[in-house]
Amino acid sequence: MTLLEKIYETRDFLRAKGMIEPEFGLILGSGLGELAEEIENAIVVDYADIPNWGRSTVVGHAGKLVYGDLAGRKVLALQGRFHFYEGNPMEVVTFPVRIMKALGCHSVLVTNAAGGIGFGPGTLMLIKDHINFTGTNPLIGANLDEFGPRFPDMSDAYTAAYREKAQAIAQKQNIKLEEGVYIGVTGPAYETPAEIRAFQTMGAQAVGMSTVPEVIVAAHSGLKVLGISAITNFAAGFQSELNHEEVVEVTQRIKEDFKGLVKALIKEL
Ligand code: HPA
Repeated sequence: MTLLEKIYETRDFLRAKGMIEPEFGLILGSGLGELAEEIENAIVVDYADIPNWGRSTVVGHAGKLVYGDLAGRKVLALQGRFHFYEGNPMEVVTFPVRIMKALGCHSVLVTNAAGGIGFGPGTLMLIKDHINFTGTNPLIGANLDEFGPRFPDMSDAYTAAYREKAQAIAQKQNIKLEEGVYIGVTGPAYETPAEIRAFQTMGAQAVGMSTVPEVIVAAHSGLKVLGISAITNFAAGFQSELNHEEVVEVTQRIKEDFKGLVKALIKEL
């Protein structure tokens, strides 16, 4: 089957489950998937039951696709995403974004846990741009002309109008929302201190192992994007050691702010 045939097969499968015309795709990162539990009138499908779908293997990621109402809007939420470091091809990592587009979403809200370069644990950072440091690109291969052009523009991948609104909403909610550049790497090893110093020189304020592939595919197909990093730790060299437990623990701590912000965004964007 071609990628396009797979996309249409999966789209039709999910439509038949009742996932009709979502507006917002939500990609919820490590420890942030809980928001999907607040979706009302939910239709929930296990990843394992969806054709052409990947498998989520990371602690803190549930592995469910949830459709329904959140803050008065129809959303399609990924509770747990696919990472390149799990051994998934980029086609699998970004397949859910293709499906969001194919089902009718106009926007995606992407979240992740990230290491802070300058910013410390507990910071919420609006992503204003990214650096693709994965060494590959999810659009390599035959272009899906039905979705977007061969050489898509990435100048406004993180929709400027959404960022402005997000700042206004955060201010109203008394939530401090920083803004910065996210550098996407493959992982799974955390970075070395020398790498982080290099990334700092390159202009990054956060580093993480996701998001960049999904946003490239979203931008390719004209989806509007809002990205938020939950900074869970100082990146390597700025604190003594790094571990996944700390990442999950810090996301637990900030998730209430995070959930409030995301709901307000969905309502008002
Ligand atoms: N580096 C890469 N990915 C991460 C980090 C980090 O320090 N923290 C959470 N995700």
